[in-house]
Amino acid sequence: MAHFSDFDTRGYRTVDVTTGYGQWVDTYEQTVEDVMDLAVLEELDEPRWSAVRRAADLGCGTGRTGAWLKSRGVASVDGVDLTPGMLERARARGVHDRLVEGDVRASGLEAGAYDLVIASLIDEHLPKLRPFYDEAWRLADEGAMCVILAFHPHFIMASGMPTHFTSASGEPIAITTHVHLLSDHITAGLKAGWTLAEMREGVVDERWLAVKPKWERFRGHPVSAALVWRKRS
Ligand SMILES: C[S@@+](CC[C@H](N)C(=O)[O-])C[C@H]1O[C@@H](n2cnc3c(N)ncnc32)[C@H](O)[C@@H]1O
Repeated sequence: MAHFSDFDTRGYRTVDVTTGYGQWVDTYEQTVEDVMDLAVLEELDEPRWSAVRRAADLGCGTGRTGAWLKSRGVASVDGVDLTPGMLERARARGVHDRLVEGDVRASGLEAGAYDLVIASLIDEHLPKLRPFYDEAWRLADEGAMCVILAFHPHFIMASGMPTHFTSASGEPIAITTHVHLLSDHITAGLKAGWTLAEMREGVVDERWLAVKPKWERFRGHPVSAALVWRKRS
């Protein structure tokens, strides 16, 4: 198992998820780049978003993922998140049918009720992946898809950079970050019962360099990954 501390080049003070996102909430939307997640989701062959009738948006945050799903024709989206301030933003955004404060590993949502389970940019906050994939399986209807958009382990290792934000006082603060190899995802997903349907990696390309010119040194490095799973019992 890889440990972020072996790769950390920043040494930022680290806080837990709810403390971190509770402080990041005001600036979160200005700092997360759509090219990290939404651009990779755009490239997927499946799922056929407009055919999804009910999605569980795990780690829904301020509702960025939910808003994108709705814009792609997903009929109904329920969201779960640990951080009250992030949920408050999602509530104000109004794209979710239901929002629940809770943990993605024990969401409290209805079993077998979703034809899509999606989690974007949360895997690095989970110490272990299997409980996530198990809960996604519990929520999924037969034939449902599970999409996980991950912070790429290669990028975390090569950059030595945790998930972090700049506080109101100007201090860079890290949020507890775990490194999951892509094989950790594959193993956890398969053991939970999922069948891998598709996988894509987002690399630092011209779109990235247009928003982050300082990342020229990372040109061509994979920075995010999407895994698409299908429930076939
Ligand atoms: C980087 S944000 C992603 C939000 C949204 N999916 C997006 O793409 O903008 C990560 C979110 O995951 C939530 N989170 C992290 N670990 C969680 C857990 N175990 N259970 C529920 N939410 C969690 C955080 O509170 C935060 O809102």
